[in-house]
Amino acid sequence: MNLSTIILAAGKGTRMRSGLPKVLHNLAGRPLLEHVVNTARSISPDDIHVVVGHGSELVKDALSHQNNISWIEQAEQLGTGHAVQQAMPAIEDKNTILVLYGDVPLIRQDTLSKLLNVTDDNTLGLLTVELEDPSGYGRIVRSKDGKVTRIVEHKDASEDELKIGEINTGILAVKASHMHKWLDKLDNNNVQGEYYLTDIISMAVEDGLQIVTSSPQSEIEIMGVNDKQQLSVLEREFQRREAERLMKEGITLVDPNRFDLRGEVVAGSDVVIDINVILEGKIELGNRVHIGPNTIIKNARIGDDVVIQANCVIEDAVVGEKSRIGPFARIRPDTKLAASVHIGNFVEVKKSEVGEGSKVNHLSYIGDTTIGSKVNIGAGTITCNYDGANKHRTIIEDDVFIGSDTQLVAPVTIEKGATIGAGSTITSNAPENELTLSRSKQITQRGWKRPVKKQ
Ligand code: UD1
Ligand code: CA
Repeated sequence: MNLSTIILAAGKGTRMRSGLPKVLHNLAGRPLLEHVVNTARSISPDDIHVVVGHGSELVKDALSHQNNISWIEQAEQLGTGHAVQQAMPAIEDKNTILVLYGDVPLIRQDTLSKLLNVTDDNTLGLLTVELEDPSGYGRIVRSKDGKVTRIVEHKDASEDELKIGEINTGILAVKASHMHKWLDKLDNNNVQGEYYLTDIISMAVEDGLQIVTSSPQSEIEIMGVNDKQQLSVLEREFQRREAERLMKEGITLVDPNRFDLRGEVVAGSDVVIDINVILEGKIELGNRVHIGPNTIIKNARIGDDVVIQANCVIEDAVVGEKSRIGPFARIRPDTKLAASVHIGNFVEVKKSEVGEGSKVNHLSYIGDTTIGSKVNIGAGTITCNYDGANKHRTIIEDDVFIGSDTQLVAPVTIEKGATIGAGSTITSNAPENELTLSRSKQITQRGWKRPVKKQ
């Protein structure tokens, strides 16, 4: 089957009460529209057309990393039929068209495949669902023998028609040659003065096509986002699905209701994730990784047997096996920790490499630094990497010991085996295996008395 998908995304989304076009609001860290585009891709169409209108430049920009999207401008939103019509010149007559909505993000691949399976030259595939509360939706009108004859929009429906529980999800599939013909005949003689795509159903019936309906696995798949409350419902549902999938893969989630995935995670076995953890972007977790509560990890590779304790933030970093991070550590972009590294509380590491078995346990800033193996960095050590104009590197070679409360003014090298005395400000290189310190000598004034308050 040659397949073209058309995704409708021109609407403004007034009820979102936002300056952002509706389809750019995030679900699980990605624009609503991107979820739909990705699902569309999963059924391998020949082409994907996205109809944009409100904030079209913003929408195109936000999805500019997605290749092979044909953007269709709909300057005025005159209705769903008009929207589809804008895309028709770009679509070959022999193709089957699948219509999707940019604000219906949870539609699943197999639901679409099922719909396409019932669609051929002589049928129109229509995704419908029976709802307890169908209000607002277009209703599916069937004849006595159960055949679909037309769709009536809520606002145009009679008393009796409003009682119909089967609704139009908006998602449908049909041959482009048919669609072409019907769209040319659409008018806007209805309550809303819009060109309704739904009017093609009765035209299809007139032309002798059969309307074949199919349904999604669950209602949530066809739910649209119109306001922030609906967005939050879909977000939770999405997260619940992801959490279930991960637990099936063997990840222990201490509480699946307090876990958020905003990207993709690949995990080894016996991984444990405590509560309120957010994983963003592309995440790789090795075997037996343990992530403590309230931690955010974004675009990172975490090796086997790593323990990340509570309240850490890790971004664009690699953490070597058996390392121990936190609590309260911040690992910033371009950081590479080798195996068995310890990064302790209130330590910030940025754009640095830390060698095997090295420790930065307390209250330090390590930026633009290369640290060798078996190095011990004392509490309160600061690499002074910025002179107000440029950044400079600090090199700390293997087996170095840095005493507490030391400033290393970059560019500077601390050679192999060197020891730096506590409280030093180091401005030039410290030689191999020697003790270097910069500190005024300690004196004691014997017999000195504290001043006393005058009576
Ligand atoms: C539409 C259906 C209705 C169905 C419901 C399901 C029609 C006439 N009605 O109604 O039967 O039950 O969806 O949610 O099709 N859009 C454009 N350009 C336009 C108009 C709309 O791109 O000119 C886009 C919107 O941004 C949205 C989608 O099409 O993503 C649906 O439009 P909306 O106005 O929400 O349609 P409904 O009135 O909900
Ligand atoms: Ca809608």
